[in-house]
Amino acid sequence: MRHTRIIVTRYGGPDALRVVEEEVPEPKEGEVRVRVLAAGVSLPDIMAREGIHPETPPVPFTPGWDLVGVVDRLGGGVGGVVPGQRVAAMPIHGAYAGFVCLPQRELVPVPPGLDPAEAVCLVLNYVTAYQMMHRSAKVGPGQRALIHGAAGGVGTALLQLGGVGGLELYGTASSRGAPVVSDLGGIPIDYQRQDFVKEIRRLTGEGVDVVFDPLGGEHLWQSRKALRRGGRVVGYGLVSSIRGEGLTSSRPGRRQRFRGTAIFAAYIAAGWLLPGRRRVVPYSIQTLKRLKPAWFRQDLIALLDLLRQQKIRPLIAQRFPLEEARQAQELLGSGGVAGKIVLVPNAPPPEPGAA
Ligand SMILES: NC(=O)c1ccc[n+]([C@@H]2O[C@H](COP(=O)([O-])OP(=O)(O)OC[C@H]3O[C@@H](n4cnc5c(N)ncnc54)[C@H](OP(=O)(O)O)[C@@H]3O)[C@@H](O)[C@H]2O)c1
Repeated sequence: MRHTRIIVTRYGGPDALRVVEEEVPEPKEGEVRVRVLAAGVSLPDIMAREGIHPETPPVPFTPGWDLVGVVDRLGGGVGGVVPGQRVAAMPIHGAYAGFVCLPQRELVPVPPGLDPAEAVCLVLNYVTAYQMMHRSAKVGPGQRALIHGAAGGVGTALLQLGGVGGLELYGTASSRGAPVVSDLGGIPIDYQRQDFVKEIRRLTGEGVDVVFDPLGGEHLWQSRKALRRGGRVVGYGLVSSIRGEGLTSSRPGRRQRFRGTAIFAAYIAAGWLLPGRRRVVPYSIQTLKRLKPAWFRQDLIALLDLLRQQKIRPLIAQRFPLEEARQAQELLGSGGVAGKIVLVPNAPPPEPGAA
């Protein structure tokens, strides 16, 4: 049996992606072969293609942080899962494929009846949002949160989970993203036209309890200025190091990443040393998953249950066939996308007579 897989042939722009057709992989001892129904497209995928993400594998590699699929074949020594069962996983790379083999311990059961494209949004974006909110910041009802990049994949997840948790929400977005922020219960702040620190002071007086900052670099320090005493900035990305310079490989990606990490470390230290108890703390889903794999599993199961109860509704920006992974990444890289882009390999053919 053959399948389609996407590979990154070299670190670089979207033209580094190639579609290959090959025999499906065979599961080894302890592995399960999964037929992929949905694979998320995220900025970390693009950063890995560019060679600037900390989790970048050596080329050639198949991108794709997260997937939802169906158990297709069991390797030796595997028990407790059956072919046909729906599962989710976060392999970090490899999900842009028709079939993928994964260690059984990586699989989390997905309740029947959920849309695989909606369910896949939970794996990277919602677990990130949930853990930052409940494990890093530990915010509670009535507290105020400022969410940067609020119309994006993780941003919309933070808005929805903040709504479920009873938080007062503020979100920075471009003017295109403002309606998404208000629809999800946040007060939008236009990051291109307004000074968000001044705006937060005007709207709240003393500042917010937590800022979720995916921009990194000097932006973390601005975010700290929006905090009330005792508040914290959770820093979780480096969007500012990739946006504005164009997503191409002609710039010194690794140097950029190390500079961003050094600035991060300086701000964490300064947050502890300066008065006001306004802290800057880092969050990394992959680091926490390695340290506390049970938390990842437990939090994803809790989120799948919230989806089953329709308490959260992931926003899907667009669905693409696997073969159009390049167009999907180009769209995400160009900005202005509201919600998550999802690849749908193995989609059933359209019904005869369907438009
Ligand atoms: N640490 C972790 O564990 C972890 C996990 C998941 C993701 N991440 C990181 O989180 C970041 C976001 O990922 P994503 O998939 O959610 O990306 P995304 O969907 O592209 O969202 C990013 C958002 O940021 C907005 N934005 C750009 N510049 C901004 C600025 N100066 N101020 C406020 N908003 C701005 C964009 O709006 P416009 O397009 O309208 O400009 C976009 O809506 C990435 O850096 C990713 O690596 C980290």
